[in-house]
Order: sequence, then C-alpha cells, then structure tokens
Amino acid sequence: MADNKPMRLWGGRFEGGPSDALTRLSVSVQFDWRLAPYDLLASRAHARVLHRAGLLTQDELDRMLGALDDLDRACRTGEFRPTVADEDVHTALERGLLERLGTLGGKLRAGRSRNDQIATDLRLYLRDHVRTIVSRLVELETALIGQAEENAETAAPGMTHLQHAQPVSFGHQLLAHAHALTRDVDRLRDWDRRAAVSPLGSGALAGSSLPLDPAAVAAELGFDSAAPNSMDAVADRDFAAEFLFCAAMIGVHISRLGEELVLWASQEFRWIEVDDAYSTGSSIMPQKKNPDVAELARGKSGRLIGALMSLLTTLKGLPLTYNRDLQEDKEPVFDAVDTLLLVLPAVAGMVSTMRVNKAKLEASAPDGFALATDLAELLVRRGVPFRDAHEAVGHLVVWCQVNDKDLGELTDEELAKVSPHFAPGPDGSVRDVLNVPGALAARAARGGTAPDRVRDQIAALRETVDDQAAWANES
Ligand code: ARG
Repeated sequence: MADNKPMRLWGGRFEGGPSDALTRLSVSVQFDWRLAPYDLLASRAHARVLHRAGLLTQDELDRMLGALDDLDRACRTGEFRPTVADEDVHTALERGLLERLGTLGGKLRAGRSRNDQIATDLRLYLRDHVRTIVSRLVELETALIGQAEENAETAAPGMTHLQHAQPVSFGHQLLAHAHALTRDVDRLRDWDRRAAVSPLGSGALAGSSLPLDPAAVAAELGFDSAAPNSMDAVADRDFAAEFLFCAAMIGVHISRLGEELVLWASQEFRWIEVDDAYSTGSSIMPQKKNPDVAELARGKSGRLIGALMSLLTTLKGLPLTYNRDLQEDKEPVFDAVDTLLLVLPAVAGMVSTMRVNKAKLEASAPDGFALATDLAELLVRRGVPFRDAHEAVGHLVVWCQVNDKDLGELTDEELAKVSPHFAPGPDGSVRDVLNVPGALAARAARGGTAPDRVRDQIAALRETVDDQAAWANES
C-alpha cells in the first residue's frame, strides 16, 4: 500500500487528527479490502435507488455507474489500491470515487452508513464463497464415492473403540465420510436461505428518512428480502457465526477422515498407499513417506473451531446496535473461507489418488474374532436366547485364545465341546456363517454393509451430489 494523505469519512466534528495509536488500531483495510467487489455491487444498487428517489439525475446516475465500473476495473487490475491512510474498504472506495467524479462522488453516501454497508458486504461475500466451498465439498464427496465404488466388495475390519468389531465393506466406511459431508452441504444451503436478507436501507441503525427502496436494492443484489428491522440488521452477525459453525463442522469431519487416513497409511495398518503427489518426505530419514495432507486436514480443524469461538466471544454481551467490536467478525470468517478452500482440494486429491490395499484389508477383516456376532446371531435363529448365545460365543472366544486358534479353524468336535449349541443342526454347521463375504451379504437391510446396499447408497449419493453441484453452479 502506498502512503497517502489521509481521507476520512468522519472528520467534520473533530479539531485534531487521530493519534497514530488509534489509527493503527482502527484500520481494517488490510483485511477488509477483499470486500471491495461486493461493496461496489452494493454501491451500484444504491445509486439506482437514489436515482429512483429523485436524489440523482439521470446524467448523475450514468456518471456514477460509469465511475463505479471504472473503479471496479481498476481494483481488479490492481491499478487502484487502498493506502495505509484509508481506514477501511468503504473509505478507500469513496476516495476512488471522488478521484473519478469530484463532488458528485460525495452524493452516494446519502441514506447509507458503513454499518449497513459492512453487514451487506459480508453477507454478499459469504453467499458467493459458500458456493465455491460447496463445489470443493462436492469434489471430496465424489472422490470418496469413486473409491467406495471400487471397494464395495472389499471386506475390511470395521472398528469400534479402534478395535476390530465386525467386518464391513470398505466402501461402506468411505461412504460414511461422504454422508457427513453431504450434511455439511445441506447445512450451508440452509444457511444461505437465512443469509439471503439485505441490511441495506437500515442506515446507521434506524433506517433512512430519504425515500429509498430497500426491497429493490435487496432484489438487485440477489437477496430474497430486505431486513424487517434496521436495528437487528446492523447488529446481527448470526449469519457469520452460523457460517463459522458450518466451517468448524466441516473441519471436524475432515479431521476424522484425516485421522483415519493417517492410520490407514501407517505400517501397522497398510490399508492404503498415499500417492507420491500427496505425500511428503523427511529431511533426515530417506525412506519416509508421510501423509501430511491428512495431518494438516486434522490440524486445520483447530483453527476452524477457533474462528467460531473467536466470533461467538466477540458477539456475546454486545449491546445493540453496531459496535466497533463487530469489526472483529471479518478475520475469522476470511480465515475459515481460506482454510477450507486450501484444505478441501488437497484432501480430495489425496483420497482420489490413494491406492487401496485390498488384499491386506480382506486378510485382516476376520481378525480379532470379528465374526463372533454372526455366530451368536445364528444361535438366535436356532431359538437360543441372545443372552445365552452371547455367553456361549464368549466362552468359545476364550477357548480359541487359550488354544491359539481362530474361529474358522475349529472342528465340529471342538465346537461341541465348548457348548452343545454349536453342534451341527438342520441349518448345517455353525462354521458356515464363519465367512466374511457371507457376513457382509447378510447385513442387507437398509443402511447395512452388504455390497448391494453399498451400491444403492452410491446411486443415491450420486444423485444428491449432482444436485449439490448444480446448486453451487447457480449464480
Ligand atoms: N470497518 C468497520 C467494520 O468492519 C466498518 C463499519 C464502521 N462503522 C463505524 N460506525 N465505525 O465493522
């Protein structure tokens, strides 16, 4: 930023200039400059409303819109830049307008305040960026669905307490992560509906005595309606806090996926191999290949949650209406947007390129007596109360541990020795249920891990994701 003569929007009633300490504390243009395109959009809509109210002639409106277009162009090319003397984005843009229009530039401020402007700009910025974030989520969902499709039939150890529990389709597990992300997209779409309210026209806090048309401005800016209460409109930052909750929840979801990817890539699991393009090495250990993308996904959730906490803490206890504390809303919001746009493509790339070690997954799927529940459920089908079946299978597991055998290796005699319930019956040998593909296929009700159900999920998810992608691409 170049150093320039200060131009403030509020000098009239002051004798001396502000102290350096105040100026340094007060300035926000170094971060709110990214709102410039949105502030300019709102300015165009405001100029039209001033014209319709008879406060700008047709010629003045034409010159005003021409200057706003030119300023927009100059901002985009970097020809116009904020200076350290511009307090905020609104100040900088008014300077740009005055440079182009002289005194006519001063007419645009009528009937609006930085209080309704900043609330409008931040809503516009977020509504725009939420669609980009949804597009990135769709890419990650698509990567997970693609891997799930390849692995609908791949049996894997399903875990609770990070201990082998029951075999599952690895595709089923990958889709569990995709479902969490589809809820995140749902939340953002729902958020957008509530965020589609325009604060412009609220002025500083009480509305304007000028004959403005808040509904027309709202419509021009793509909002569904104008705010019904000017005081709420300038004081409310629910939309920012709610966005940050959505972002934090996405952070939590990708941290859980990240943690699993880290585990899966470890020597102990060896379920996946991370593509070189998404791995890093060690500066000292030449053999290392580290899953940094997944670790950063896990780590970034900390700052996303922090952003939410930061804003909620700022908002707590604020009296109505606008208070300068509200300037603190922007950095957490911007940081959350930047973080998501940085981390989501990397995770999507890591997931879509990882190689799944099907042989290792299939081999470990029955480990840890993972078919014990299937055995107990067979006894239930034979009429044994589940309580007794559970106990008998528990004894069998202990017998196996003592005798260093797996469930599948037991003979009819050994089985019968532990409990008469395990003797062959009209339904055949209990050993028949001790196979992993059978265990997967048996869980065939809605939501179960049977490969057929996994394929149903994939079909349904693809429809959901297509719909989400279409929403993100609507303007
Ligand atoms: N930079 C301010 C913010 O971010 C803009 C609104 C300033 N309003 C005021 N009354 N000082 O909140």
